[in-house]
Amino acid sequence: MEVVRVENLTKIYGRGDAQTLALIEANLSVQSGELVALLGPSGSGKTTLLTSICCINEPTNGRIELDGVPVFNDGWTGIDVRALRRQKMGVIFQSYNLIPFLTVLENVELILTLNDVSREEAQSRAMELLEYLEIAHRWHHYPSEVSGGEQQRVAIARALANRPKVLLADEPTAALDTERGKIVMGLLRKLSRETGAAVVVVTHDVRMVEGFDRVYHIADGRIQN
Ligand SMILES: Nc1ncnc2c1ncn2[C@@H]1O[C@H](COP(=O)(O)OP(=O)(O)O)[C@@H](O)[C@H]1O
Ligand SMILES: [Mg+2]
Repeated sequence: MEVVRVENLTKIYGRGDAQTLALIEANLSVQSGELVALLGPSGSGKTTLLTSICCINEPTNGRIELDGVPVFNDGWTGIDVRALRRQKMGVIFQSYNLIPFLTVLENVELILTLNDVSREEAQSRAMELLEYLEIAHRWHHYPSEVSGGEQQRVAIARALANRPKVLLADEPTAALDTERGKIVMGLLRKLSRETGAAVVVVTHDVRMVEGFDRVYHIADGRIQN
């Protein structure tokens, strides 16, 4: 089943002389259970595509369908994207966007309790992920008290906690060493295989692409299909 469908998506930032064509008629399709890489150099439009798919960046025109529901069709279609994001999406951004006044554990638990998972269940699921990512010993610390690589792993645990149907990850291993990068990629693969999630991983690192079901190449805002 097709979970992510992007058709002829264009994004132009700014206007007039200051105009940047970030995305030009991009097409992309990700099936349930698929692990897809989006590979391209810095400035090629990768983050723009990802933030458009998770509905926090407004495309100029084109179409986005998520889990069979049109969310953008030359304009937002009016569906509740916040609910959709909370229930179906996990996102890992380059800035980790952890909530500074919640502990590591609370940051991961929050998305679960927002989705009506009981406190007990939320805590055990969150701890399990933190253990897997080797940061469980930091559970009571605040984001500012842990390293960049540790913050990245908390963001990853948070994105996976709700077993999302769509997982979007922007350079999720950038701040990690090779070994930990492999653990994270293993987790993403496991998520897609075991829960049928559609996973899109953005990277500019060619060495990252082994193990993906499919690789999309992007350059100057164009996806080579
Ligand atoms: N908010 C913005 N305003 C203006 N230009 C932007 C903005 N965000 C990105 N761009 C431009 O759009 C192009 C694609 O950027 P981006 O999607 O961040 O690429 P990547 O993630 O592949 O590095 C770049 O030329 C970048 O400078
Ligand atoms: Mg980027």
